[in-house]
Amino acid sequence: MAFNFDSPTNRLGTDSIRWDGADLKEVLPLWVADMDFQSPPCVIEALNNRVHQGIYGYTHSPHQLNAMIAAYLQAQYQWTVDPDWIVILPSVVSGLYTTVQQLTKQDDCVLIPNPVYHHFKLACSTANRSFQEMPLELKDGRWVLPIQQLQSLISSKTTLALFCNPQNPGSTVFTREELKEFGDFCVQNNLWICSDEIHAGLVLTEDKQHIPLASISKAISEKTITLMSLNKTFNFPGVGLAWAVAENPSLRKAMQVGLHQTIAPPSLFAYTATMAAIQEGEPWRQGLIQYLRKNRDLIQSRISNIAGLSIDKMEGSYLAWIDCTQLNHPNPYQLLLDAGLATSPGSQFGRDQFVRLNFGTQESRLTQALNIIESAFAK
Ligand SMILES: Cc1ncc(COP(=O)(O)O)c(C=O)c1O
Repeated sequence: MAFNFDSPTNRLGTDSIRWDGADLKEVLPLWVADMDFQSPPCVIEALNNRVHQGIYGYTHSPHQLNAMIAAYLQAQYQWTVDPDWIVILPSVVSGLYTTVQQLTKQDDCVLIPNPVYHHFKLACSTANRSFQEMPLELKDGRWVLPIQQLQSLISSKTTLALFCNPQNPGSTVFTREELKEFGDFCVQNNLWICSDEIHAGLVLTEDKQHIPLASISKAISEKTITLMSLNKTFNFPGVGLAWAVAENPSLRKAMQVGLHQTIAPPSLFAYTATMAAIQEGEPWRQGLIQYLRKNRDLIQSRISNIAGLSIDKMEGSYLAWIDCTQLNHPNPYQLLLDAGLATSPGSQFGRDQFVRLNFGTQESRLTQALNIIESAFAK
């Protein structure tokens, strides 16, 4: 079945954070990380059926869900996981905050990448924990960890490392060797690891595959909580759920603190959407990857022709991390906003001279955005 990702969609008036953000009515909003495509038809049909049942009572996680997720991880990533290692959560972000809260003590320090999804830092500051950034370095067009520097970034107070793979922003899909180096470093230094792999289903580089960090070795797996979800890949973050995988029972226990108390269980629609995507969503995901690759190629060719801008290899997800350093402009984000395009400001992720452009949208909209970027920076 062919899927038409070019079909125009209109999200105005749906309380979409991206499209209905109060101050942004007059601009093309390509910032928050959800896509402008409808979810796969199998998901829409399953949700419709559930809606029509008409009774929305208290619902537990379906008995078969953990086994379905384990089979999915085996099929997609050749990662063998016992269904009992899985803890169902309402979202990845709640998993990040729980991890920092539960695995660290008051004076501990957390190692986090820079740049990174802003909730990494917020999870630390909300729990009153200090953090140390690992500045990612651009090597051969890829943002990689400063592996030689890692030892100098930790102290006896460092007890946890947060990791993002594929990386947001920066889009690196880490290789087996890179994962092994980082995982071994954490094991040798007795650090817990929380690996946020929410973008795993969105690898764009043709000869690359997502490799879960915990799949590298038993020693790494024993130290790691992996956070995953189908929300991003199948575009249902408004109804979705997430899960944590932890081989180590003490890590699983930590993830369960607060569940059903301060952390609400997922909505019953989340189970329906996730199971439909697992069972029947793969052809749609394949179509999406093809479409996003074309958008990636368009961005790469257009951005590399704009003097002062540069871009990395865009290995995964739909978030272009555009380097404006050579422009020497005090605020490239504001410049684009004034020109009619809302990106995410690089400052949100720890680098002021960057902007992040969401290209999970129709090619026509992306072209409009690229035209705005071209004329804004030409001036
Ligand atoms: C790295 C990363 N983690 C987590 C999230 C959000 O996950 P959730 O909506 O499941 O809380 C995002 C969303 O952009 C993300 O990029």
